[in-house]
Amino acid sequence: MAKMWAGRTSGETSKIADDFNSSISFDKKMYKQDVCGSIAHASMLAYKGIISKEESELIIDTLTEILSDVELGKLEIASDAEDIHMFIESELTNRIGDVGKKLHTARSRNDQVALDLRLYMRDETAVIVEKLKELILVIVEKAEENQDAIMPGYTHLQRAQPITFAHHLLAYAMMFMRDIDRLNDASKRMNYSPLGSCAMSGTTYPTDRDYVAKKLGFDGVTMNSIDGVSDRDYCIELLSAFSVIMMHLSRFSEEIILWQSWEFKFIELDDAFSTGSSIMPQKKNPDMAELVRGKTGRVYGDLIATLTMLKGLPLAYNKDMQEDKEAIFDGVETVIKCLDVFAPMIKTLKPLKENMYKACTQGFINATDLADYLAKKGVPFRSAYKIVGTIVGECVKKGITLEEYSLEDYKKYSAVFEEDLYQEISMETCIKKRISKGSTGYSSVKEQLEYVKEFLNE
Ligand code: ARG
Repeated sequence: MAKMWAGRTSGETSKIADDFNSSISFDKKMYKQDVCGSIAHASMLAYKGIISKEESELIIDTLTEILSDVELGKLEIASDAEDIHMFIESELTNRIGDVGKKLHTARSRNDQVALDLRLYMRDETAVIVEKLKELILVIVEKAEENQDAIMPGYTHLQRAQPITFAHHLLAYAMMFMRDIDRLNDASKRMNYSPLGSCAMSGTTYPTDRDYVAKKLGFDGVTMNSIDGVSDRDYCIELLSAFSVIMMHLSRFSEEIILWQSWEFKFIELDDAFSTGSSIMPQKKNPDMAELVRGKTGRVYGDLIATLTMLKGLPLAYNKDMQEDKEAIFDGVETVIKCLDVFAPMIKTLKPLKENMYKACTQGFINATDLADYLAKKGVPFRSAYKIVGTIVGECVKKGITLEEYSLEDYKKYSAVFEEDLYQEISMETCIKKRISKGSTGYSSVKEQLEYVKEFLNE
């Protein structure tokens, strides 16, 4: 096929070079953004008298037609085109001849691709924010239903202190809320139009970049044309934010996997989100959670690939930058797929409250509360800590719990121990008495639920 850029060279490239050079197989995803950008550009060209009103209208009408033809499946995006920008432009010229060739006045593919990718990422980021909100809502509902489900909280994966399942779930809601903030924050910096930077140094035409920016919903224009075509910081920022989302999903997945194991059995995943084994008839595997955990590495890879692609590039555009797209598209798609499966998986899982509670009875997770009991009766906390540590050691030797240790034995360690200690170290009291902001206490968890709901309503 004759190249649109044939001139300086014959444009007769080898098939191998064409295939290697082509990005159409992946950048066709941006067909809509490309058309919308071109429509805004054509409208500006007429507004500034660079082309006539009639020419601009013909271009815009035809571009609109092309867009709807692609969307209706009437126009197939040619797999042998060099990229989506060339494809749309040559389709336009096929349909309206020479007028179509005027569209690329005061524009380069360098600022065109920079524009398209920003528009695409703006759309997809908004989708991801919505999906995060859906997940947070599912978490809130699960937490609301499980405010009374007492389970061990862990440090070092050792039973540490009693908490509620609601409290634990809400920790993830906080993470996903910050993820939304990160996306919104990066979006703010991204939302400047690079169009009009042209190849790299701007143009001699009297363009109006702000006019185009406004039409496309940008907050303004990029202020340096060299930077405008070279900047992919927003891809890095978004891929970093995606990596953090995946890291959060992966930690959550790890817990789902542990909780679903016979060793924990804190939850039962719904059959719709579990798989079996081809040989072991008893198996019910948490494949979805494992896959989310596994896919996290892909997104980290996308981030590192993009950082590495950019680090040695002299200004301004270099063809290396074509490599940004597969990475960022993969990041977007992976995050979306994972969020799509995660929300219903969480929604349908059943917490096994009795098993959670049973796990609290082993591991002395009320030992801190026993030390607090002594401290509140005037024993300095460090001394109280030591006394309780010694008693725990005794209990371990005897194979009993703190609840089973007799008052008589307690009194050997401190005279302030009274019958009320048993009430004080019950799991329910341990939860109820956590009154600090953000704690596992029943009223604190209610406050957290409100906090998250308010965020969702904003
Ligand atoms: N397909 C190219 C890319 O994705 C478009 C920009 C090409 N510009 C150029 N001067 N060759 O980066």
